[in-house]
Amino acid sequence: MGGTKRVTKSRSAENMGRTKVGANREDARDPSRGAAGHKLVEALYRRPHDGVPVWFMRQAGRYLPGYRRVRSQVDFLTLCKTPELAAEVSLEPLATFGVDAVIIFSDILIPLEAMGMPVVFTERGPCMERPLESRADIERLRDADPERDTGFVLEVIREVRRRAAGRVPVIGFAGAPFTLACYALEGSPSRTFAAALALAYRAPAEMHLLLERIAAVVARYLKAQVAAGADVIQLFDSWGGLLAHDAFREFVLPYCSRILRELDGSGVPRILFIKGGGLHLDEIAGCGAEGIGIDYTIDPSRARETVAARAALQGNLAPEALFGAEADLRARARALLEVFRGDPGYVFNLGHGILPGTPVEREHALVDEVRRFAPA
Ligand code: CP3
Repeated sequence: MGGTKRVTKSRSAENMGRTKVGANREDARDPSRGAAGHKLVEALYRRPHDGVPVWFMRQAGRYLPGYRRVRSQVDFLTLCKTPELAAEVSLEPLATFGVDAVIIFSDILIPLEAMGMPVVFTERGPCMERPLESRADIERLRDADPERDTGFVLEVIREVRRRAAGRVPVIGFAGAPFTLACYALEGSPSRTFAAALALAYRAPAEMHLLLERIAAVVARYLKAQVAAGADVIQLFDSWGGLLAHDAFREFVLPYCSRILRELDGSGVPRILFIKGGGLHLDEIAGCGAEGIGIDYTIDPSRARETVAARAALQGNLAPEALFGAEADLRARARALLEVFRGDPGYVFNLGHGILPGTPVEREHALVDEVRRFAPA
C-alpha cells in the first residue's frame, strides 16, 4: 500500500517524542512491528503472550458518568467533531477499568454524512434527513475524501494516540457496507431494515452499486485511520446477519472482504464483527481479518472449532449478563475464558455493544475476573 512508508515514518517520529512516557514499553517494542508487544495485537496475530486482552465494544458511552457529563453540554455530533472532547471520552474506559485498548469515540454513520447523507441523532436513534429513494440518489452520492470530509476523526485518532502514550493500542473502526446501506435506505430507526432488504431483491444491481460506493469510501477512510495512527481496525457489520443465507453471501461477505483486502500490508491487524454471522463463520474466516468478533448467539467452542487456527476470536459474553448478580457474571466470564484456555488467539469482549444503564461496578468485576484468570 502506497501510504505504508509514510505511516512508519510518522510513527517513529511520534515514538521519539514519547520517550519519557512509557519509555520501557516503547523500548521493548520493535518499531518496525507497529504496536507489537501489546496483548491485543499479539492475540490478534495469535502470537504467544501473557494474559488475555480485554476491551468492550461501545465501551465509551452513556453508561459512563464522564460521558454523560460531556453529553449534557454538547450534542452527539458536536462531540464526534470536537477532537479534544472525543479523545476525553475515548480514554474514560482506560482510566476507569484499565482495559487493554482504546476505541476512538465516533460513530459508524459519520462517513454517510460525508457522502452527502446528513444524519440526525435523536432519542430513538439515528435518522437520515433524506433517505435514498432512487438510483439517481445513489449516483449523486459523493466519493468522500477522508482528510477533507472526515478530518476530525483522524484528529481524534492522533489526539487519543498522544494521550494513550503507548500504554494501549488505539482501535479505529468503520461500519461495513451492508449495515451503512441499511441506515442510508431506511431513514428512521428500525430493527428490521425492511427497505434495505427489499432493495436487495427489487433492484439488486442498485443495491450492489450502493454497496460498491460505500465500500470504496470505507476502504479509504480506514486507510486514512491507519495513516493517522490507528493500531488496530474493526469493521462493524451490525445488520449483516439479517439477510438470508444466499443474500448474505452476495451482499455482505464480498464487500467486507474487499475492504479488508485493501488493508493488506497496512501493518495493523483487522477485526471483522458481523452480528448474526455465527452460521457463516467458515466463510467469514476467509475474508482476510486477523480477528473475528463473534456475537452472543454462538457457542464459543463451536466458533473455535469452525474457525480453527485461521483467525483469532473476540467475544462473546451477552451484554445483558452485566445486569445479573456479580457472582453469576464472574462465573460466566470464567466459563468463557476456560473455553479459550491456552489459546493465544483470544480477545475477551462482549457479544455486542455494552448496553446503556450497565452498572459500572459490573464492568470492573469483569476486568478483574479476566486478570485473575490470566495474570499479565
Ligand atoms: O466505545 C464507543 O462507544 C465507541 C464509539 C461508538 C459509538 N457507536 C458511539 C455512539 C461506536 C464504535 C459505535 C458503533 C455503532 N454505531 C454501531 C455498530 C456497533 C453496534 O452496536 O452494532 C452502530 C449500529 C451504530 C449506529 C448508532 N449510533 C445507533 C443505532 C445509535 C443509537 C442507539 C445507540 O446504540 O445508542 C447511535 C448513537 C451512538 N453512537 C451513541 C454512542 C455513544 C449514543 C448517543 C448518545 O445519545 O449519546
